[in-house]
Amino acid sequence: MHHNFNFKDVLTASARASWAIEDVLPDGSRLDFSRRFMPETLARTATIPFLSEEEARLLNQIRGHEYLALFGLVEEFILPFVLDHARPQLNEDDHRVRALLGFASEEAKHIHLFRKFHALFQESFATPCAVIGPAEAIGAEILRHDPLAVALVILMIEWMTQNHYLDSVRDDGELDPLFKSLLKHHWMEEAQHAKLDTLMVEALAEGRSAAAIERAIDGFLEIGLFLDAGLKNQTAMNLDAFVEASGRRLSARERRALEGQQHQALRFTYLGSGLVHPRFLATVQAISPAARDRIAGVAPIFS
Ligand SMILES: [Fe+2]
Ligand SMILES: [Fe+2]
Repeated sequence: MHHNFNFKDVLTASARASWAIEDVLPDGSRLDFSRRFMPETLARTATIPFLSEEEARLLNQIRGHEYLALFGLVEEFILPFVLDHARPQLNEDDHRVRALLGFASEEAKHIHLFRKFHALFQESFATPCAVIGPAEAIGAEILRHDPLAVALVILMIEWMTQNHYLDSVRDDGELDPLFKSLLKHHWMEEAQHAKLDTLMVEALAEGRSAAAIERAIDGFLEIGLFLDAGLKNQTAMNLDAFVEASGRRLSARERRALEGQQHQALRFTYLGSGLVHPRFLATVQAISPAARDRIAGVAPIFS
C-alpha cells in the first residue's frame, strides 16, 4: 500500500482544518489591484516580451479570477459525484459516511466562497471577465463517463491544488494577501479531499479486469481532452477581457502568440501540474502500471 489514508483520520484532520466563509472573506474585504494574484509558475504573464509590467499584472489578475472561477466550476460536478458515491452505503461505516458528507459540504462551501470572490472581483475590476460554462452542461458531460474515470480526474485536481499552494503560492511574498489567503484556506481543506479521492479511486477500481481499467483510462483521457478544449475557449475569453480592460491593441501576430502561450499556461495549471503529481501517479500505478505509463506519456503535452 502506498498510503495510510483512512476515513477516521480524515475526519479528525478536517475538523481541525475547518473554517467559516465569514472569517476568510468578511464583508468589506478588499483586493489589492496593485499586486499580482497568481504565482508566475501558473500565470506565465511576466515573460511575454510585448507586454508592459502593468499589462502583465492585469492579465495575471484576470488569470486569478479565472482560477477561482474554474475551481468553482469543477467543484460543481465533484459535489454530486461524492454524494452519489456516499449514498449506496449510508449504513455500513459511520466514519466513511461522515467523511464523504463532510467532503461534499466543504466543496459546497468552496463554491459559495468562490462566487463571493467573483462578486468582489467584478465590483472592483473595470470590465467583465467571462468564464466558460454553463457549469451544469460541463458537469453533465464529465459525469456521463465511467465513475472510475471521473474519480481519477477529481484525484488529479485535488493533488494539483496541493502542488500549486505548496510549490508556488505559500512562499510568494508579492501576491495580494487576500487572494493568497483564499488559496491557503482552500488548500487546507483540499488536503483531506485528496486522501478521500484516493480511497474512492481504490474502491471503484477493486475487482476490475485489466480491460475494464483500461476503458476507464480511455474515459479519463477523453475528459482531459474535453477540459483542454474548454481551456482553449477560456484563454480567448481571458484575452478579450484583457484587451477591454487595458485598452491595449494587439496585432494579429501578438494575439496568436498570446493565445498559444496562455493556452499552454492554462493547460499546465489545470492538467499538466496534476498529471505529474507523484501521489496521483502512485495511486494510478497501484491500480495498473500500464495505466500509469499511459498517463505519464501524455503529461508532457500539458507541461
Ligand atoms: Fe474545493
Ligand atoms: Fe476538493
